[in-house]
Parts: sequence; C-alpha cells; structure tokens
Amino acid sequence: MALLEVSGLTRHFGGVRAVTDLSFTVAEGEILGLIGPNGAGKTTAFNLIAGYLRPMAGRIVFAGRDLVGLKPHAVTKRGIARTFQIVKPFRKLDVLENVVLGAFLRRRGRREAEAEARLVLDKVGLGAKIGVPAADLTLAEQKRLEIARALATRPRLLLLDEPMGGLNPTEIDQASLLVQRLREDGITIVWVEHVLKAIMKVSHRVVVIHHGEKIADATPEAVVQDPAVIAAYLGGARDGHAAA
Ligand SMILES: Nc1ncnc2c1ncn2[C@@H]1O[C@H](COP(=O)(O)OP(=O)(O)O)[C@@H](O)[C@H]1O
Ligand SMILES: [Mg+2]
Repeated sequence: MALLEVSGLTRHFGGVRAVTDLSFTVAEGEILGLIGPNGAGKTTAFNLIAGYLRPMAGRIVFAGRDLVGLKPHAVTKRGIARTFQIVKPFRKLDVLENVVLGAFLRRRGRREAEAEARLVLDKVGLGAKIGVPAADLTLAEQKRLEIARALATRPRLLLLDEPMGGLNPTEIDQASLLVQRLREDGITIVWVEHVLKAIMKVSHRVVVIHHGEKIADATPEAVVQDPAVIAAYLGGARDGHAAA
C-alpha cells in the first residue's frame, strides 16, 4: 500500500487552473521529485496535501486515512511536515527556539522539546548555531532551519518546497546529502526543486506537472528523455537553467 495516495486532486483560483485532476502515489521510503515549469502548480499541490488549501475535488489518503478537510496542524499530527518555498522563520527568535516550537507538537514539556530540537539541529548541521537569531543566518542555513522545524514534528512524510533555491553549488551538494540522509532515517520525501541535476540524481522517481496536470511519472532517466517533458521545459524556460 502506498504511504500517500493523491487522486483526482483539483484546485482552481478563478480562471487559473492551478491543479487539475492530479493523481500520484508515494511509497514508504521513497524520494519522489515533483517538477514542472514556474506556475505549474507544485506549491499548490503541497498546500492541498498539507491542509493549507482545500481541494475542489479529489482525495488525499495518507497511511490509509483521508486527509481532506483537516487543518494544517492536524495534518502535521498525522505525520506530514512541510517546508516553505519562501523561508518563514521567526526572525527575532534564535535557532533553537524556532525548532522548539516545532517540537512542541509531540513534546509537552519544555525539556523534552528542547532535547528534540537539539537533536534535529545537529542532524541538519546547525548544532553550532543554536543561539543565533534566525534573521542572522545565511539563506542556506535558513533553508536548513526550515527542515529542522519540520523534522522536529517527527514526520513520516516530508514535503520540501525548493530546499535548494538560491543556494550555491557547494550548498546544493550538502542539501542533496541531507535529503538522502533523512531518507536513510526512514523518512519518505516528496520534494520540489529548480535544481534539476540534484532532483535527477537523488530522486527514485519523478512526477512532472505542467499547467496543473501531470504529464510524466517515471524514473529520472525516463523523464529527462520524455518528449512531453522536454517540450514543457523548452516552452517555459530558454535560459539553459530550466525552471522547475
Ligand atoms: N492563493 C492563490 N490565489 C490565486 N492564484 C494562485 C494562488 N496560489 C497559486 N496561484 C496560481 O496558481 C498557479 C500555480 O501556482 P503554484 O502552485 O505556486 O506554482 P509552482 O509552485 O509550480 O510555481 C499560478 O498561476 C499561481 O499564480
Ligand atoms: Mg512553487
């Protein structure tokens, strides 16, 4: 049985068909890449799965239970955590406090929440930054802080929205390693990313959406050779650094 099964998912905004009849599954332990040109509907798909938006149609079944209608907090409680494309730390709070807030989802006591936060901060490589205000972190560090906040809620499924956006090549390699390590820890991952090289290297399978509809669902090797995918990217970006 799939860990996540999305079927017929649809959400339009007025005349904008952000997501239309989208269906895909995610197996436990899988790293699934979700790509598509700018405006394809990737973030909307995440917002629907994570309970930030309500679908107009479709089902979202996670670990055998329907999620549609649950608020974000309840979805997180079921075991799905997400990061935001635009990082949203509490800028004045330090790194540790930002993550403690995530840890309170499952840890009632301050000491337990803090212990959990320290653990995940070590995991993402921010162990030395715990006292630093979030606003003073580099972008790469803020992206890691987002991941740490999500991890502190102890997800089974992690949705990462462009975790490498704006990072340099060294930081991109480090982020790739982090994604792979999380998966080794038993977390299933769906990630949206502009950096196609990283997506293709790290993902087991890639789903491509274009104008809100799925146009491919296959291995990275098959997807890069798919004429429909090539056409979608050539239509959307001609700068050699295709938009994801
Ligand atoms: N809350 C919203 N209200 C109106 N239009 C939206 C909203 N969210 C997204 N859209 C539109 O839906 C389409 C898909 O957006 P999005 O899911 O952010 O794409 P992607 O993440 O693939 O770049 C775009 O045309 C975007 O402008
Ligand atoms: Mg997006």
